[in-house]
Amino acid sequence: MADHPQNASTPTYAQLVANRFSRRTVLLGAAGVAAASAMSFRLAGAQAAASSSTLTFPELKKVYDQTHHVAEGYNADILVRWGEAIVAGGKELDAANQNATDQAKQFGYNCDFIGYMPLPLGSDNSEHGLLCVNNEYPNPHVMFPGMTEDDAPKMMNADQINAAFESWGHSIVEIRKVDGKWQTVKDSKFNRRITGTTEIAISGPAAGHTLLQTAADQTGTRVFGTGYNCSGGVTPWGTILSCEEGLSDTFGGDPAKGGDPKLLERYSYDGSDYYGFARIEERFNLDKVPNEPNRFDWVVEIDPYAPTEMPVKRTALGRMGHEAATCIVNADGRIVVYTGDDDYFEYIFRFVSTGKFDPANRAANKKLLDEGTLSVAKFDEDGTLTWIPLIHGQNGLTPENGFADQAEVLIKARLAGDQVGATKMDRPEDIEPNPVTGRVYAVMTKNKKRTADEIDAANPRAENKYGHILEMLPPGEGKDADHAADTFKWDVFLLAGNPAKPEEGAKYNPGISADGWFVAPDNIAFDPKGRIWIASDGANDFDIADGLYGADTVGDGRALPRFFFACPTGAELCGPAFTPDGKTLFVSVQHPAENSENTDKLTTRWPDFGDSLPRPAVVAITKQDGGEIGG
Ligand code: FEO
Ligand code: CA
Ligand code: CA
Repeated sequence: MADHPQNASTPTYAQLVANRFSRRTVLLGAAGVAAASAMSFRLAGAQAAASSSTLTFPELKKVYDQTHHVAEGYNADILVRWGEAIVAGGKELDAANQNATDQAKQFGYNCDFIGYMPLPLGSDNSEHGLLCVNNEYPNPHVMFPGMTEDDAPKMMNADQINAAFESWGHSIVEIRKVDGKWQTVKDSKFNRRITGTTEIAISGPAAGHTLLQTAADQTGTRVFGTGYNCSGGVTPWGTILSCEEGLSDTFGGDPAKGGDPKLLERYSYDGSDYYGFARIEERFNLDKVPNEPNRFDWVVEIDPYAPTEMPVKRTALGRMGHEAATCIVNADGRIVVYTGDDDYFEYIFRFVSTGKFDPANRAANKKLLDEGTLSVAKFDEDGTLTWIPLIHGQNGLTPENGFADQAEVLIKARLAGDQVGATKMDRPEDIEPNPVTGRVYAVMTKNKKRTADEIDAANPRAENKYGHILEMLPPGEGKDADHAADTFKWDVFLLAGNPAKPEEGAKYNPGISADGWFVAPDNIAFDPKGRIWIASDGANDFDIADGLYGADTVGDGRALPRFFFACPTGAELCGPAFTPDGKTLFVSVQHPAENSENTDKLTTRWPDFGDSLPRPAVVAITKQDGGEIGG
């Protein structure tokens, strides 16, 4: 398809934003009309709304230093950090002697997505459960002494490369609240690591396809490893969806000599071999094992309650740089999964299962993500969101256009999105339904590459350094919302940036404080009251801390973020996850000190300080009076 057509009549940013905000009363339904009216009133500059938020905590002041901070009245305690021995027989981190054997039994690096899974399965126990955490990527220049970010891939020795390979993937650890404080249960039978070498099954329509076959796996149904596990989701049957966000820079070799240079280029496989993997494992060399890349960039389903069960890559959800994969049981019983492809000008996808959820048949539910329809989003300026199905033989998804069968449509989902004319977004991160209202929130983190003639209604700013959040509105509300409908409505929830700088074009509730604005939204979570909690990734570029902001989605406090938690320098915040009672909020502090040159010049040694290396960690936040987070 034509990329980013230039058009003399392309609307300006101001026109696009004015159109979006003026349409609120049409779109929000009965409950939203009052909020929309209030919004219109406030947009006229008539009142400050800071006191109208339902979030009662005293807002954190903008802060940016070597440690973390949480709003007054709350505790933020380190629960588990990189290198802690969690699997039976494991050793604690020995920074000077890192190796694969030890790392494979330790909590992984760069914690990201968090799923809190109550024990026992099926309960809503908020004081005992399994903490299921993605570990996105290693950071050699602050893990191993003596190397910089640029030279690490060539300087790492084999022990370090193998340790790095075991440091990512997923970590599962049993946790329990004792006397009001969370602690890990060492050596629990549930404790488990899934890493760059774990055997994983491949299922769904692309399983066994010739493009997934290699000399080592002629069945195309087994792969060793997962990586770049970014965000994810929790299924209604109690499994985790762990998202591979694109392994392109972990492969070496010459993409021109790979299996399909056009496909490799579309997925950014350029042979950069960022962690030296290709130096020690042939399958990470593009011209040696051309189909190996096709076996990555999927969504991986993990059953944390079945510690010996093999994880499964679910190909029906498409192949892309998945940020997250969030599930909801539709009113008709089908499972809907929203997933975003986090790269510049990539797409938002939705999967709808063929089968229906059966609360009494967990084994059957675990097959639901193997059969269904993957669609891609097209946002129109009139507020219509169309889900275009990616079905072989339809909409140009034909052999003449490079799609031999349905498996190829899924393996080449980005190319399929190009073919059907989906809307190119500003790096889609979390896409997540609000369980109370049924509205779906889609986070675009930023896109500095978008030019003025490439803006559209859903991506309305050129050189978007700040990010924005859209609201996707299925027909119906709450539990009756039809997430499987062919068309939704959509709206702008907020445009991030500093409202004190008009040139940034930020849009929030006008009651926004000097501390409540943010940049680069990434992960989101909803508390039991349906309020949105927004984590940021990229604020350090603006000399402010990344952190967590809470906001109402309806009422007078709609789109009025309040600053709740700040990360130490170099870190982003990920994985916000609430216990079912809303009284604990787990967050991942990822890549503290990443902005350091090397381990001799660390910007922070969070969280242990002294002589310690910086260690990514999960933090448990509780209210000192034992109440719900946010009040
Ligand atoms: Fe791994 Fe899109 O953040
Ligand atoms: Ca992320
Ligand atoms: Ca991000």
